[in-house]
Amino acid sequence: MKPFIIVPDGFDKNLFKQLQTNSNLEVHPESKVDQSKLKELLPKASGLVIRSATTITPDLLELAPNLKLVIRAGEGTDNIDKKACGAKGVKVANTPGANNNSAAEHAIALMMTVLRKTAEADASMKRGEWEKSKFTGVELADKKIGIIGFGRIGQIVAKRLAGFDPEITFFDPMVEKCDLPYAKKESDLKKIFSSCDIISIHVPLMPATKGMITRELLEAMPAHAILINAARGGLVDEEALVDVLKSNKIRGAGFDVFATEPLDANNKLKDLGNLVMTPHLGASTEEAQVRVGQMAVHQLNEFFVNNNLLNEVKA
Ligand code: MLT
Repeated sequence: MKPFIIVPDGFDKNLFKQLQTNSNLEVHPESKVDQSKLKELLPKASGLVIRSATTITPDLLELAPNLKLVIRAGEGTDNIDKKACGAKGVKVANTPGANNNSAAEHAIALMMTVLRKTAEADASMKRGEWEKSKFTGVELADKKIGIIGFGRIGQIVAKRLAGFDPEITFFDPMVEKCDLPYAKKESDLKKIFSSCDIISIHVPLMPATKGMITRELLEAMPAHAILINAARGGLVDEEALVDVLKSNKIRGAGFDVFATEPLDANNKLKDLGNLVMTPHLGASTEEAQVRVGQMAVHQLNEFFVNNNLLNEVKA
């Protein structure tokens, strides 16, 4: 019997077609499968390729006795209970690097949107208004930028921002030094939060980083500063974020990721005029989805045909 593969969270169309013609695998014909359908299909599954919409819990694993491999078509594996997978002999892998440029560009897009108030101006125009004086913004050039997490994505953000002549300070206990002349390391997180004009977060979500952006750090930010999070929900104290934005203790924020996704109906973040939000779009570009898809297809083939596990992520 051929390994049965399910791709529940969407996939590049051409690559999905290509995957379906792979004679070594049997691929479920839909590239988007809702949670109840997924539960029906799981007893047959040998492999899963997921994005952020599916959470791999012990309960879900109970329904999949034949599951051998979960590929996270992306970077973060925080939506996979890796310990539970390990206990069941299910391997976990991701597609490292494939969507990093898109995530970095999205963080920069959020910076520009918050600084120039373009989202608010667009909404105002569509209401038939012409409120030129209301939307005076701030330049990105020559700003002090704090990058929290200086791994692959944080470093791409720094490189792409170079043309804006920034002064970059990064926080990352795992990175000793970097070759970019305009970026220097700082180990005191509070110093970065209290001195930078723009803070951009690029840290994975794990027990050590959950809630690391505390109320104390948010309250230390200067009144003109902005905060960008295109990394992960759960890193920032969202209640404190609501408070500092509501009381205009900081200029604004741009968030792509949230503690609960999608947002609950009564989430207070939705009431804030100085917060720009996007629905976890960091990796959602045509280019990133092709790169991620190519890597995932290659990894499926290597694992199920050549018995070769690539890009394993351990608990
Ligand atoms: C990632 O971790 O790479 C992103 O969350 C990817 C995605 O949106 O699927």
